[in-house]
Amino acid sequence: MVKILVLYYSRSGNTETLAKAVAEGARSVEGVTVEMKRVDYATVEDIISCDGMAVGSPNYFGYMAGIMKDYFDKAWSVRDKLAGKPYIAFTCGGGSRNTALLSIEHVLNAFKMEKVADGIAWGLRDHGPPSERDLTPLRKLGETLAKEVLKRKVETPKE
Ligand SMILES: Cc1cc2nc3c(=O)[nH]c(=O)nc-3n(C[C@H](O)[C@H](O)[C@H](O)COP(=O)(O)O)c2cc1C
Repeated sequence: MVKILVLYYSRSGNTETLAKAVAEGARSVEGVTVEMKRVDYATVEDIISCDGMAVGSPNYFGYMAGIMKDYFDKAWSVRDKLAGKPYIAFTCGGGSRNTALLSIEHVLNAFKMEKVADGIAWGLRDHGPPSERDLTPLRKLGETLAKEVLKRKVETPKE
């Protein structure tokens, strides 16, 4: 079994809806367990112990939420344990600009984590509130991450 952490923040629920779809997609892959954690309930141990991670944040002023940045600031001390970990990212904003998405990718790149698929910057003005109907790309993103994590685990077994 490999473990995927879906780490997210959400205040009014939109990013959480996206996070649930990503988690659902990842869970659909056999041999994968998924844990969803809102970042204010996550510890640094959560990021260490997972095999791969999906990170989702609202777009605040063109950046990830401050609380998410704060989490990564704290995780910097354990960066040697995170290098090479596969991840994907997603964001939700009023608009569809991808600056918040890029801010997550920039930070995880500094951790030397590996992006395994292009993320999604959901824009409420263009797409409306995320609903069951149009979450297929988010599910697909979760599924892609899960398959990639599983593949790497098989290729480089620890025991
Ligand atoms: C403090 C604050 C700053 C925001 N800044 C932006 C922004 O720069 N660009 C944007 O597209 N949306 C911005 N938004 C809109 C949010 O990204 C959007 O409402 C998002 O869906 C919130 O996610 P949530 O429902 O998961 O909390 C901002 C919202 C707040 C509360």
